[in-house]
Amino acid sequence: MSKSLIQFIIEEQRHIPGATGDFTGLLSDIVSACKQIAHDVNKGALIGVLGSAGSENVQGETQKKLDIITNEVFIKANEWGGHLAAMASEEMDDILPIPAKYPKGKYLICFDPLDGSSNIDVNISVGTIFSILRAPEGVENPTAADFMQPGTKQVCAGYALYGPATMIVLTSGHGVNGFTLDRDVGDFFLTHPKMTIPADTAEFAINMSNQRYWEKPVQRYVEECVKGKDGGREKNFNMRWVASMVAEVHRILTRGGIFMYPFDTKDPAKAGKLRLMYEANPMSFIVEQAGGASSTGRERIMDIQPSGLHQRVPVILGSKNEVERVVGYHKNA
Ligand code: AHG
Ligand code: MN
Ligand code: MN
Repeated sequence: MSKSLIQFIIEEQRHIPGATGDFTGLLSDIVSACKQIAHDVNKGALIGVLGSAGSENVQGETQKKLDIITNEVFIKANEWGGHLAAMASEEMDDILPIPAKYPKGKYLICFDPLDGSSNIDVNISVGTIFSILRAPEGVENPTAADFMQPGTKQVCAGYALYGPATMIVLTSGHGVNGFTLDRDVGDFFLTHPKMTIPADTAEFAINMSNQRYWEKPVQRYVEECVKGKDGGREKNFNMRWVASMVAEVHRILTRGGIFMYPFDTKDPAKAGKLRLMYEANPMSFIVEQAGGASSTGRERIMDIQPSGLHQRVPVILGSKNEVERVVGYHKNA
């Protein structure tokens, strides 16, 4: 039998001098949250959780019932354990301090409880994304400012994918490993050790309906992909768009590819669609750890100094040689 996720983490922590078991404890709480969410997503209409909640989040997006339920599940599973000092979520305007009745820990977590939630009612894969940071030394009651750390400071990043199988994919800076939920046993087991992204790909993912709003470098890149061998590229390309970032990143970790939600001029107030703290940074950490690259087109995503919890950034990530090509087109422009 393969290793359970928690066994894997404990064995990994043994090699880290001074590890207290806190990180393992936190991971174990996150795993519990993801199991509960997997259950709720899987039961769907049977337990009446599909459809809109009729409310809006801080970003002006209509919330699904499951956006709210999964946010609550994630909080409940993680607030009591004594490993966190505060949390931040896509679904909450401000950070959530750990309630006074629980002990506080040294970590901060940013999460997207349900990624791709527009897909939930149509029974397409969705996910949960998280990013773990350290609270600054000596800070017991963190503020939002304490979360403003670049992605390079992440201790761990991961996602759960609720697809045909439920999986958790993780990195703590020593490569990327994937675990599959065995529902009969009730545990995640290591099924995808040392996941890597091939440097080359012939598959791109972008929402083509935004084409007229893109900048020149992205226009050029996608046009060349579409034309393939007839337009000067050495190969023809295929295209995918799931509209669940977790599913796209998982596909790229499995067989390579490039995913783009680039800068566009659709809404001048937004520099892109995806959020830095709980989408772009954790996915960039995973992708880079698997040998891929992640950029806004102009800079490495993990180098960005954050300025807001819900800040948006352009995202271009995946197979290294294709990402570098798009970055090169930005330099030339
Ligand atoms: P969320 O459901 O957490 O708001 O995230 C949705 C994101 C991302 O997962 C996906 O890649 C993108 O939005 C899809 O955007 P379009 O609807 O523009 O295709
Ligand atoms: Mn999301
Ligand atoms: Mn979400």
